[in-house]
Parts: sequence; structure tokens; C-alpha cells
Amino acid sequence: MAFVTHQIVRSLSSSAARHAAIKHVTIIGGGLMGAGIAQVAASTGHSVALVDTSEDILKKSVKGIEGSLKRVVKKKYADKPEAGEEFIQKVLKNISISTDATSVVQSTDLVVEAIVENLKIKQDLFHGLDKVAPAHTIFASNTSSLPIGDIASSTSRLDRFGGLHFFNPVPMMKLVEVIRTPSTSQETFDALLDFSKALGKHPVSCKDTPGFIVNRLLVPYMMEAIRLHERGHGSKEDIDVAMKLGAGYPMGPFELLDYVGLDTSKFIIDGWHQMDPDNPLFAPSPMLNKLVAEGKLGKKTGEGFYKYK
Ligand SMILES: NC(=O)c1ccc[n+]([C@@H]2O[C@H](COP(=O)([O-])OP(=O)(O)OC[C@H]3O[C@@H](n4cnc5c(N)ncnc54)[C@H](O)[C@@H]3O)[C@@H](O)[C@H]2O)c1
Repeated sequence: MAFVTHQIVRSLSSSAARHAAIKHVTIIGGGLMGAGIAQVAASTGHSVALVDTSEDILKKSVKGIEGSLKRVVKKKYADKPEAGEEFIQKVLKNISISTDATSVVQSTDLVVEAIVENLKIKQDLFHGLDKVAPAHTIFASNTSSLPIGDIASSTSRLDRFGGLHFFNPVPMMKLVEVIRTPSTSQETFDALLDFSKALGKHPVSCKDTPGFIVNRLLVPYMMEAIRLHERGHGSKEDIDVAMKLGAGYPMGPFELLDYVGLDTSKFIIDGWHQMDPDNPLFAPSPMLNKLVAEGKLGKKTGEGFYKYK
């Protein structure tokens, strides 16, 4: 009995120790995703260092976080505006900014990378950080489409490397895909699961396969909607209405494509097609390619499959 109790206490304290381990987080990339991850991590009491390439980008990023927090507070603290303002100041105090990743990682427990979706650039970043980060520091990438193992291969900490795939907008979306490669240690994987839970998110565990779970199902679905339309089997409006009213989806596939960005969707499908050219689910689409070539990238450019002006 004493042994069992001892075991329970040990397991509880090691779990608590793991939790305590991730207190300081460095987020590289203060764009759409990085700013969202920084906001959520700081809101849940983590000390956050946000890194980007220039002070201007970082200032814009923090301004965006402040605006987002104001919207949260407006709802959450509707009757107590002073407590809301106090919350915002507390969260912002948890965030520091830097253009020098190598100096901030020296005191960090976890690095979450959310920079441009380019394998070589991500590898170069992690290769440099690997040399200066403490031995216990875990590295994670928020990549949507690149193999985590390929990014990790630029470092010597394959056992302390995994994926943390957040969803846009990060403060609203509950899911985090936690990705393990064959080399990710159990301890690292558990620490990433615990961290996701500490952010108030719901983690699911994924293998390091193209698109993990969500995008592996969603991207071929969106591509198939384009092919259906290309074959003349349905207008984009009808396909969108059909999936909303018939399948209960909040957005139709063409609305979703425009929201995600047609360039991003093309980038993902082209990468997968290159990896697995015989897979018909990964076949490129002439219609998507044409829209991207014309600069019609979706909501962000004012036109994609639909016009937004
Ligand atoms: N946008 C989405 O919906 C989404 C969802 C999940 C995952 N992701 C992934 O998250 C990552 C970031 O996507 P995003 O949409 O936030 O991009 P973004 O373009 O909004 O932001 C990227 C930021 O990284 C900065 N950056 C680029 N290189 C850098 C470097 N070497 N060091 C420091 N900062 C650098 C840029 O200045 C920019 O501010 C990508 O890997 C993407 O695949 C995106």
C-alpha cells in the first residue's frame, strides 16, 4: 500500500514538475498565428518572449494582441470594466518582445516556431537555436504542411522536438494537434500535451504524416469541391449551400478556401503532390492555379472564388 501511495505521489509530482517545466515560452514569428499563440500563452500565466525580424512588426503584433484582448474583455468582464483593464495589463506584462531569438531562448522551456512556411528557413532557424538553447528546452513547430521530422533533422535534439499545430483564430479555436515523430520522446510528447491543456486547449495526438488529421481531411475535401465545379457538376454557390444546409458545415468549401487563402491551399496541395504524385486526392487543380496566378488569393486580396469589395 505504502509502495502504491509512493508511486501515486511520485507520478503526481513528476506530472506537476512537467507542468512547472513549461513556464517560459519563446514564440518565433509574430504574425497571424504567432501573435495568437502568444496571446493565449500569456493569458494563461506563461511568460512569453515574442520574436520577429523587426521592432515594427513586433509592435504591430502586440497592438493586435491588445485589440484582441479588448474584445475578449468586453464580453468576459462586461460588468467589471476595471477588472477587465487589469487583466489586459497583466497579460501584456507577461509578453516581452525581441528581434534576437538566440538571446531569449537561453532562458526558455519551450520554443514554438510560427514563421514562414518554408522548410529551409525553418531548418536554419532551429539549427541556430539548437546551439544556444538549454538542453531541457523543447522545440515545436506550428507548420501546417511540412514534415516535423524534416524540420527537426537540422537539430541534435530529435527527442525534444515535436509539432504544436494551432488553428486560426488561435484565441477562439479549441484544438491543438500535438505531433510526435518516431524520435520524439514520451516525456516531450507529454510535456506538449500538458502545455496545450494549460493553454485551455483540447489536444489530439497525431503522427507525423502529411496534414496530420484536420488538414489531411479538409484539404482533399476542398480540392474535390473545386474539381466537382471544374467538371461542371455544380456552381460554387450551390456546392457551398449544399454543404452548409446538407452537411451542417458552418462554411461551404469555396468560402473556406477564400478564408484560408488560395495561395496557402495551393502551396499545401503542390507540396503533397510532389511527395505522392500518384495520389489522386493530391492532384493540382487548373482553376486554383489560375486564380493564384491572377493574384486572386481569397478574402485577404478582396477576391478569390468570390468578390469581397
Ligand atoms: N494561417 C493559418 O491559418 C495557419 C494555421 C496553422 C498553422 N499555420 C502555420 O503557422 C506558420 C505561420 O503562419 P502565419 O499565418 O502566422 O504567417 P504570417 O505570415 O502571418 O507570420 C509569419 C511571421 O514570421 C516572421 N518571420 C519570418 N521569418 C522569420 C524568422 N526567420 N525569424 C523570426 N520571424 C520570422 C514574419 O515577419 C511574420 O511576422 C506557418 O508555418 C503556417 O503554415 C498557419
